[in-house]
This record gives sequence, C-alpha cells and structure tokens, in this order.
Amino acid sequence: MSILQTMTNGIPETYKQMSTEELETRVRDVKARLGSRLFIPGHHYQKDEVIKFADAKGDSLVLAQLSAQNKSAEYIAFCGVHFMAETADILTTEEQSVYLPDMRAGCSMADMADIHQTERAWEILMETFGDTILPLTYVNSTAAIKAFVGEHGGATVTSSNAEKMVSWAFQQKERILFLPDQHLGRNTAFNLGVPLDQMAIWDPIQNKLVHEGSIEDIKVILWKGHCSVHENFTVANVQSVREKYPEMTIIVHPECSHEVVSLSDMAGSTNYIINAIENAEPGSSWAIGTEQNLVNRIIGEHSDKHIVSLNPYMCSCLTMNRIDLPHLAWSLESIEKGETHNIIKVDQEIAQKAKLALDRMLQS
Ligand code: 13P
Ligand code: SF4
Repeated sequence: MSILQTMTNGIPETYKQMSTEELETRVRDVKARLGSRLFIPGHHYQKDEVIKFADAKGDSLVLAQLSAQNKSAEYIAFCGVHFMAETADILTTEEQSVYLPDMRAGCSMADMADIHQTERAWEILMETFGDTILPLTYVNSTAAIKAFVGEHGGATVTSSNAEKMVSWAFQQKERILFLPDQHLGRNTAFNLGVPLDQMAIWDPIQNKLVHEGSIEDIKVILWKGHCSVHENFTVANVQSVREKYPEMTIIVHPECSHEVVSLSDMAGSTNYIINAIENAEPGSSWAIGTEQNLVNRIIGEHSDKHIVSLNPYMCSCLTMNRIDLPHLAWSLESIEKGETHNIIKVDQEIAQKAKLALDRMLQS
C-alpha cells in the first residue's frame, strides 16, 4: 500500500470515483469467482448498499454463532465493526482470514473500556469485595477485555442473551462486574429483580466506585460506558411520541438508558425488535429506538404499518457507516488479489483467553 493510500485509509481514489453500477458489478463478480471460499456476514446496522451483498445478516449473537459454525470459507469479509471482526477471528480456524473493509469501523462503546483501566479497577474491586465478583462483558468490547473476562471465569453476553448470562453469573458469584455498557447491564439486572440501589458505577476515568449507601449491598458494578447512538433516545422523545401518537407502541434497544426503557412499552435486542415488527398486526403503529439504518430498513419493509424513529433527528451509527460500497468492492478485490491489508488478527494468547469467555456464552 502506498503512503497516500495509508493516509486516505487505504482505499485508492479510483474506487471513490466509480459509479454504483460499476462497484456493484465488481462486488458481484468477486463473489461469483470466489464462491463458497468467501463469506460476507453483515450486521443489521449496515447500510443498504452493503447489506444487500451479505451472505448472512444478523445481530451480534447470530453473527458470532455463524462465525463459530463456518469452517469452510477461507475469506471472511466482515461488514460490521471492529469488535465483531475480532470475535469472528477468535471463533474461526487458523486457515481462515477475517477482513474488515474499513479499519476505521470501530465502536465508541468498546473503546470506553481499555484493558489497563480494567486491570486497575479489578485490583481495587478485589481489595474492596474480595473474591466475590464475576466479570461479564458485552460482546461490544475489545478482544483484550474479553480475554480478561475469560481468564477470570466470566463470559461474554449480547443483548439477545444478557438475562440468561447475568442469571448464570449470579449462580457462580455473589456480584458481577458488567463491562462496558452501563445501560444494558442496568436494564438486564433490573429485569432480573436487582434494585437500582444495589447497583454501583465504576468510573474508569476517576478510577473509583460511585455508589450511595452500604457497599455490602452492591450486587452489580456497572462500567461507566454507553453507546453514543442509543444515548440519543431521551425521555423527552418518549413524551413527545406519547403526545403526538397516543396509540403508538414504543420499542427500544436495551442500550438506551433505564429511564427510556422504563417508559417504553417493549425493549430488546436488534433481533427482538425486527421480530416484534414482523409479527405485528397490519395497521399497527410503532416508534423504534435503535440505529437509523435498521429503522429505515424496517420502515421500507413494512409499508402496512406506521413506523417512526423514536427520535426524529436520529442519525445512523457513524462507524457502522464507514463500511460503504466502495470499501466493500476494494476489500473484495484486494482479497482476491491476495493482498493482506485490513486483516483482523487477534494475538494468539489474547484470542485463547477471549475464546473461553465466548465459548461460555455460546455453549450456555
Ligand atoms: P445487537 O446486535 O446485540 O442488538 O447489538 C447492537 C449493537 O449496538 C451492535 O453494535
Ligand atoms: Fe458501537 Fe453503538 Fe455503533 Fe453499536 S451502535 S457499533 S454499540 S456505537
């Protein structure tokens, strides 16, 4: 790769200037030539121009399961964000390579828990609570955090199985440390009957536990992280929908704040939201609180229902949107030429430990 290509994030200028038709033809041609040697998993939050070429689409749990099952594809071009591609690399064999079409497709939530902060926090938490804590991490975390969790007997969770995994964790230890999304952790523990006053926050910047009341009562320690997309759904949005459309059902993702989830009618993972709308009566009306590419797609697929975004000014996830048609075409053509850039390869020792945490989830 030339220095110029590196500075412009690798993609040669020519791909940016190609027409949609040409880019689509190139993607189709590589897919046809590589056949089953190539597998393209796509997260539901991807743009339409990309998801239409996915061999399988799903939420984080489905994509992790598919990665674990697929032993045949030599090349996996992951249309999602960095932590998902890392997970795919950890769960696939040495002979398979995982590519991320744009290396800038990160996740701001995953970046909110770094391994040094986590090790520092753990030391203090162990001094405070002794060996009574099991760490759990949302899959939206770096491989290093998954490895830390795996090494300490914990597991990963996704928004589809969070209740099952938190219940499992409480069978192992008295307390849990939930990384990095405080909202998914709080919403899940609350649904399982843990009162809010038995939940504390770990602030990684101040390196301290934030809690009112007796330390002994703490059952859940929530890492102070959040999704910068889902935090844009507010109580004011819920109130405004209730006023404007009193008959509307409000359905939100559990990465939204506890206040928003409590005031909504339904809350669940990406797949849960998709299924709820699919199974809804024609003519029913819905306000959805999740990523905008997905909401737009759901609206387009359900013209028999009245569907709006819970926040009318909502934007898509910027990092999911880094993967666009030019990057997909470039990535696939690079794979076919045997070029090795944009490969996601997790350090072997980290991968082994992270796999412990992923396997505990996939096998439960
Ligand atoms: P799920 O796919 O588990 O619903 O997670 C949503 C998300 O934010 C992915 O980045
Ligand atoms: Fe990360 Fe939120 Fe974007 Fe998902 S939607 S990739 S959690 S920033």
